[in-house]
Amino acid sequence: MAQVEAEAEAEEPTHRREGGHASLSGQVAFITGGGSGLGAAFARRLAADGASVVVNDLSADAAAAVAAEISGDTAVFDVCDSAAYDAAIDAAAERHGRLDIVINNAGIAPPPDADRIERAIQNQMLRMEGRIDDLVPPDSTVELSDADWDRMIKVHLYGTFYGTRAALRHMTPARSGSIVNISSVLGLRPMAGALHYATAKAGIIAFTKSVGQEVAPFGVRVNAVCPGWVDTPLLATMDPMIIAGIVMQIPRGRMAAPEELAELVRFLAGPESSYCNGDVFAASGGFA
Ligand SMILES: NC(=O)c1ccc[n+]([C@@H]2O[C@H](COP(=O)([O-])OP(=O)(O)OC[C@H]3O[C@@H](n4cnc5c(N)ncnc54)[C@H](O)[C@@H]3O)[C@@H](O)[C@H]2O)c1
Repeated sequence: MAQVEAEAEAEEPTHRREGGHASLSGQVAFITGGGSGLGAAFARRLAADGASVVVNDLSADAAAAVAAEISGDTAVFDVCDSAAYDAAIDAAAERHGRLDIVINNAGIAPPPDADRIERAIQNQMLRMEGRIDDLVPPDSTVELSDADWDRMIKVHLYGTFYGTRAALRHMTPARSGSIVNISSVLGLRPMAGALHYATAKAGIIAFTKSVGQEVAPFGVRVNAVCPGWVDTPLLATMDPMIIAGIVMQIPRGRMAAPEELAELVRFLAGPESSYCNGDVFAASGGFA
């Protein structure tokens, strides 16, 4: 018991602010997909507590806009490119002299498909009328192309692997660091129609648990966050009727704001979450 208390004390933040939040002053954070939506909210939240933030995105303009807002810097590359990811993490660590936090957040959604949406709405009507025998096969699986499957798995699962591997090369020798992988509620509760997205996000959960266990004794924490439905540009192309149908299934009765997820990510990024190792956290308004 005394040993547990002593170890916990050793990991206690030494720089608590009044009001209970530890400052991230002097810490360096690297966030992928930080030019929009959740990633931008995470960047603002960590910067608000004093972290220096490196904002990655595919879009140079989006990354630059967020970085300018928070006095951060940018790293423009595709997270599917492992050599680019390694080089950017190494450059950030060298430029700032350390690397404390990596948020693997970059992501994409399946592009809207008018025919499939039409079929989904038609099937919803038929279900409400109890006409199960008349349902039209949505064919989401048989119509999914190799290219769409590959890109979805690569951005989410490969990107998370590349980022985690690059970060651990710095964090494990330093015996310190926090990696937060952004999965999804669909990784916990897959839905028909976005099987490649759900598969990638479920993979991130298994990946996080496995790596988190491996590095737990070495002072590095790797955890996953599963956001529910969040109001970001990612969902902007979804059909409003589909969105309305989803919101009806959320016990909280609304989507999340990105800032609500940023509080959870801030907790996992900082020393307050000292006993979270390979753990998975949902914030889904009850949807998970
Ligand atoms: N919005 C939601 O409801 C929701 C729910 C659960 C999980 N998520 C996850 O949260 C993460 C952020 O999503 P968001 O809603 O903020 O989306 P978003 O579209 O607002 O932002 C995603 C950002 O990632 C960037 N990006 C995409 N592919 C990239 C790549 N290959 N390399 C570098 N950058 C790339 C985009 O340019 C964009 O700026 C994603 O992983 C998404 O799957 C979102």
